[in-house]
Amino acid sequence: MNHTASHTLNYQINNNNDHLKVNDWRLNFLCDYIETNHHEYIRKIMPKILSVSKALSRKNIIGIDDYKDLLQFSIELEIHIQKEERLLFPYIKKMNTTYDNKDEYEVPPFGSIANLIKVIEKEHKNVSGILLKVKNAYGNFKIKLTDEPDKKVFYELMNEFYSDFQMHVHLENDILFPKSISLEKKLRKIFLKTK
Ligand SMILES: [Fe+2]
Ligand SMILES: [Fe+2]
Repeated sequence: MNHTASHTLNYQINNNNDHLKVNDWRLNFLCDYIETNHHEYIRKIMPKILSVSKALSRKNIIGIDDYKDLLQFSIELEIHIQKEERLLFPYIKKMNTTYDNKDEYEVPPFGSIANLIKVIEKEHKNVSGILLKVKNAYGNFKIKLTDEPDKKVFYELMNEFYSDFQMHVHLENDILFPKSISLEKKLRKIFLKTK
């Protein structure tokens, strides 16, 4: 089984089973899951997308500007996931432990998690917008029998990346973030006596 097939399989398993339980996961586990499953996936697939799109731009099958846009996109996406891994997820995990152990709560340097999440969600919107634009520009990545092999690979990778990113953003925007905001509110109520 090649990487693409095995990833698609994992993705289907997640959709069918794990996804139903995701609401019950501890936030620490959800952060780790996103990091190991979705962030690492981006780091594996992005170099492949870049190398095949570079090859396609050399053959004039895609524009050089499109390749450069994808390159810029991958840099911004890496900064985004680093922000989550270095700032947001550690704070969420720390809040979780503080709550479980009834430790002293410390206000984070960014003030409140809601501020940071606002920035992160805006980035999700930007990334999704760029992906949708690329998808539309390239006929929804629909593969034709007559397409040249590299183009088929490019479309396959982009399709896979697109669905993975949708699940990734869903886990963050719809599950992780609302739960983290309410956990922070609980902690502030206990330790800072806020309402
Ligand atoms: Fe993420
Ligand atoms: Fe994210």
